[in-house]
Parts: sequence; C-alpha cells; structure tokens
Amino acid sequence: MKKTLIKNIGSLITVSSNSELKKGHEMKELPLIKNAWLKIKDNRILDFGNMDNWEGIDNWNEFNIIDAESGTILPSWCDSHSHIVYAGSREQEFVDKINGLSYEEIAKKGGGILNSSLMLKDTSEEDLYNQSMKRIDEVINGGTGAIEIKSGYGLDTEQEIKMLRVIKKIKETSPITVKSTFLGAHAIPKNYKANPDQYVEKIIHEMIPVIAKEKLADYIDVFCDKGFFTAEQTEKILQAGLNHGLKGKIHANELDFSGGIQVGVKMGAISVDHLEFTSSEEIKCLKGTKTIPTLLPSTAFFLGLVYPPARKMIDSGLPITLASDYNPGSSPSGNIEFILSLACIKLKMTPEEAINALTINGAHAMEVQNELGSIEKGKIANLIITEKIPSNAFIPYSFGKSLIKKVIIQGKLYYDCDTK
Ligand code: NIG
Ligand code: FE
Repeated sequence: MKKTLIKNIGSLITVSSNSELKKGHEMKELPLIKNAWLKIKDNRILDFGNMDNWEGIDNWNEFNIIDAESGTILPSWCDSHSHIVYAGSREQEFVDKINGLSYEEIAKKGGGILNSSLMLKDTSEEDLYNQSMKRIDEVINGGTGAIEIKSGYGLDTEQEIKMLRVIKKIKETSPITVKSTFLGAHAIPKNYKANPDQYVEKIIHEMIPVIAKEKLADYIDVFCDKGFFTAEQTEKILQAGLNHGLKGKIHANELDFSGGIQVGVKMGAISVDHLEFTSSEEIKCLKGTKTIPTLLPSTAFFLGLVYPPARKMIDSGLPITLASDYNPGSSPSGNIEFILSLACIKLKMTPEEAINALTINGAHAMEVQNELGSIEKGKIANLIITEKIPSNAFIPYSFGKSLIKKVIIQGKLYYDCDTK
C-alpha cells in the first residue's frame, strides 16, 4: 500500500504525547502544531511535524497526497457509551414526553426499553445488523473512530446473545474499533416484575457464563437506578461478571441518587456513566480511583434532565469522559459535534476540556488508549479533517453544523463531504 501525506494542515490537534488519562486541570491542555504535515503508512501514523522542520520527500510516487486545505486535524472521536444496536425507533414516546409523561412513567407503562425489546424480538439477526451498520456508517461520517456498543434490548438469554453476535459481526466487519458490553440488566422484563431477584439470578447463572465462554463481551453493565436495579443487585451482577473476567462499565445516578457510583468504584468499574445526580459525596468517592466518570449530555438534553456537575468534578481533580449514549429512547443521535457544543454550553466545560473528553479520555474508558485517542507515532490513523476554522472554540461554537470535511479510517479516506 502507498503511504499517505497530508499536507497543508492549518492546525494539527495532537491531544497528547503520552496517551495518559487527563484529570482536573490537565483537561485544559490541548497540544497542537500549527502549519503541519502528517504521514501515514499502512493504517498507522508514521510521522508528523511543523512545516519548518519539513525535510521533503525523496520519491513522491510512494505517496498519496491529501490536501487539508488549511483545515484542522483531530484524532477521531472515541465514543465510549452507546446502544447503537437496536430495532426500529420510538418517536411515539418522544411525542408522549412532549405531552407530559416522564421517561420513568413511560417505562412503567411498558414502554421504553421494554418496547425496544419487543421490536428486537421480531427482528432477524441479519436485519438488526443491517439497521445497526447504517448507524455505524452515520457516526463514522461524523468523525467517530472507536465505539463501545451495549446489548440490553434482548432481556432473555437467546435475544441478548443475538444482540451480542450482531455486535461481534460489527467488530469484524466495520473499519472502526468496537468494544462490546453485556447489559442484560438494562430493565426488568415484564414476566419478572413480581420477582426481580429471580431475573438477577438468571443473569448471573444463565447469561454471564455462556456469554463469557463464547467471548461475546468485553465488559458488563447494569442500569443501577430508581425503578431499575438496586445497588445490591448491581454489586452481585458486577461480582459475577468479574468472576468471568468481565469488568464493569455501569449506568448510575441518571434518575436519582442510586448508590451506583459507590458500587461502581467498589467493584473497580472502568467507568460510571450518566451521573446527573452527583453530590460532593460521590465526587469524594471517585477521587483517586481508576473509575472514570462518563457524562452523556445529549441524554440530559433529550429527556430534559438536570445536567451533571461537570465543572465541580473537573475542579475537584477528576477526569471526565463524554459519550453519545446513542439509543432509541433517551438519545437517538450519535452526533459528537453536538455533544461538544452541549458540553460547553450546558456543562460549562471549555472547548479544550470537551475535546480531551471525547478523544484520549474516551479511549481510556474503552481501554484503547494505546491505539487511539491522540495523534502519536504508531497509533491507528483514524483522523478528522475539518474545514478551515479560526480556533478550537469554533468547533463547539458552530452548533448544529458539521465542520467535518474528510474522515480517515485505518489510514484510508472513508468520507469526503465533496464527493458524498
Ligand atoms: O443510557 N439509561 C438506560 N439506558 C439508556 C436508555 C435506553 C432506552 O431508553 O432505550 C440510557 O439512557
Ligand atoms: Fe446508556
């Protein structure tokens, strides 16, 4: 394969030179090189630098040339929390919400996750894969180069395995990096309403062993919240996951203080996600631990929830990751540029903090920081090229409009807005 040279880069946002997770005030630092070039060999970043130390090229025939036309280059987004594999859509519930019902009320009526579960059951594995791959293509065009995908609309062994097989097929066939999470504990199925603990037992004794044996998941998740799973049930499920080599990445404190953050930290979860309900106590509990707080502002936006106290978390020295939560009920979008805007406008994060949260910190929340999340020699060449922009802040400032001109995945041009 020919090498690639990207020339005429107005600003090369490298994000990091050591791939480390950024915490507290470190999140403000966003290294970049003005007036830069970058070389790719096969699917990896070969080298990059400023035009002042450009040594030229001996044999131009060895290179494909991409002209960045003075645009900005960033590492592609690392979206560490999504439910992108689902069947159909739930816009009727969107209308119900406009008419006054809450997310919890809709769930209680058998809507919400249970509604998606019914649609999933009626969808073949092939159709589910095709519907999901359309969304994968959509998010890659939006700059996503790594994504975590959860199961959780199956809610019985056979259907959960069907979802996880679809995620596995996406891993094998899509050009971006995919991590898979088993979320059998997403909602309590109707037939277990009277005895939720029985469903927890089924997850522990029936689902986890098969899923682990067939290596269908990288992580395990539980929706630890009011009306869903308790902290005690969450701990049991996370422990069973750990016994089978699956680390936790959990939904916590979206609808109320659930004890989910504490249990996540106690069980060494990679991340605790949502966190709309977070007080000083939870922040103290997260400090100095390996568990990364992950915020999903498009969910708070779409459901009209309170926003998590991102500023307080960062000012207390915590790291933050941001993700899309792309799902049919609470965030039917994987638009990361919009999430950057929300993070700045609603979470009061600076543009630099938000970009770090969606690149290197997102990579950490999926344990792919050695391959992705920053522009460093040897990393996978998944890159975003924007139109010419005056500053970093221009990205979140231009909300609702994509500035992305080209997307490079595995060293190859995947999307070009001029030819699509
Ligand atoms: O992350 N909170 C739980 N699960 C999803 C919503 C799933 C759905 O409504 O379909 C979330 O918001
Ligand atoms: Fe979620």
